This record gives sequence, C-alpha cells and structure tokens, in this order.
Amino acid sequence: MTARRTGFLLIGLLIVVSFFLGMMLCFAMNRKKNKDMEQLSVRLNKTERLEPDIGDSMRDLQMDMAKLWFAQKYHNHALALYELKEMEETVEDIDILKPVVNGVNVAGVMDGMKNSQLADMKRALLKHDDASFYRQYGQTLATCNECHRTSGFGFNRITIPQNPPVSNQDWAPEKEASKP
Ligand code: HEC
Repeated sequence: MTARRTGFLLIGLLIVVSFFLGMMLCFAMNRKKNKDMEQLSVRLNKTERLEPDIGDSMRDLQMDMAKLWFAQKYHNHALALYELKEMEETVEDIDILKPVVNGVNVAGVMDGMKNSQLADMKRALLKHDDASFYRQYGQTLATCNECHRTSGFGFNRITIPQNPPVSNQDWAPEKEASKP
C-alpha cells in the first residue's frame, strides 16, 4: 500500500467517523429538545387549566378600602396613600389575568377605576381635601358594586366599614402613634 493510498484511506475513515459522531450528536440533541418540549407542553397544559382567580385580589381590595377609611378618619395620610398604592397594585395584578366574567371585561373597568376614582382619591389626599376624598370614596364603592351587579355578583355589596377591619393596628399618624 502506498503512503498516498494510506493517506486517502485515513481521510476517508476520518470522514466516516466524524459523520457518525455528528449524527449521534444530532440525535442526542434532538432527544433532549423533544424532552424539553414535552415538559413545556405538560406545564402549559397545567397552566391553561388554572382559571384566573380574582377572588383573592377582590378580598385585598376590600381590606384596603376598609383600612383606607380608618386611615383617613384618623388623618394618617401616609397610611391612606399606602393603601391606595396597594389598591393600584392589585388592579395591575388583575390586569395580568385579564378576566372576563359574564361578559364583563373586569380588567378594563378596573383600569378605568384606577385612572379616575383612585387617582381622584389620591389627589384629594395630597390636597388634604376631606370633602372631595369622601365623595370619591363613595364613587369608588359605587364602581365596585356596579360591576358586581353587571357581572352577576350583585349579592356582593361593599359598604363603608362600621368597625376597623383589624384590631391590631394603630390608625393614628406616626408622630402621634400611641406607644404599645
Ligand atoms: C370590573 C368589575 C369589578 C369591580 C370594579 C370590582 N369587582 Fe369585586 N368582584 C368582581 C367579580 C367578577 C367578583 C367575583 C369573583 C369570583 O369570585 O370569581 C368580585 C368579587 C368580590 C368580592 C368577593 C370575594 C370573595 O371571594 O370573598 C369582594 C370582597 C369584592 N369583589 C370587592 C371589591 C371591591 C372592594 C371593589 C372596589 C374597590 C371591587 N370588588 C370592584 C368584579 C368587580
């Protein structure tokens, strides 16, 4: 066998071996990709079966509205502004879920409430305009209950709280806070 022939044979062998190695690598990568896709599809199926649940967000809104009332009553503006911010964040959370309940685009109405009633309450708080604040608070409650009516939950009526929603919170502004 001439050195030239051996050279050709070696190169041929090298080509064949690299071809098979390449095929095996491709096969392994494909298998991993398929497995990843399978897992992704299982997770997607699970997520799709989860109905967007806005009940938790609604209960947050109810609590924040009650706290907001007592914060304002005791002129704790920092707390009132904080509760309003919490409400805005809850509205943003609902916006992610985009729920449509009995034909009502909940996120859309909520967005409107955030940009009008909640924004007006904030403006009133910043101006220390109590009358305007209470007017807007009433408007907000009306919006809550109007949507409950139109979305088939009219039995769920939110009102001005009679008592503080919790008994372990001091409503007074920070500088006047009573020592425990
Ligand atoms: C755009 C429509 C809409 C608006 C505005 C709205 N809600 Fe709701 N709310 C709903 C729907 C729909 C449900 C029923 C949700 C469910 O249980 O699936 C609900 C349920 C509730 C519940 C019952 C939750 C429970 O399981 O105990 C409370 C409390 C509540 N809302 C409070 C409020 C408050 C407070 C506001 C205003 C600040 C408000 N909601 C504004 C649509 C709305």
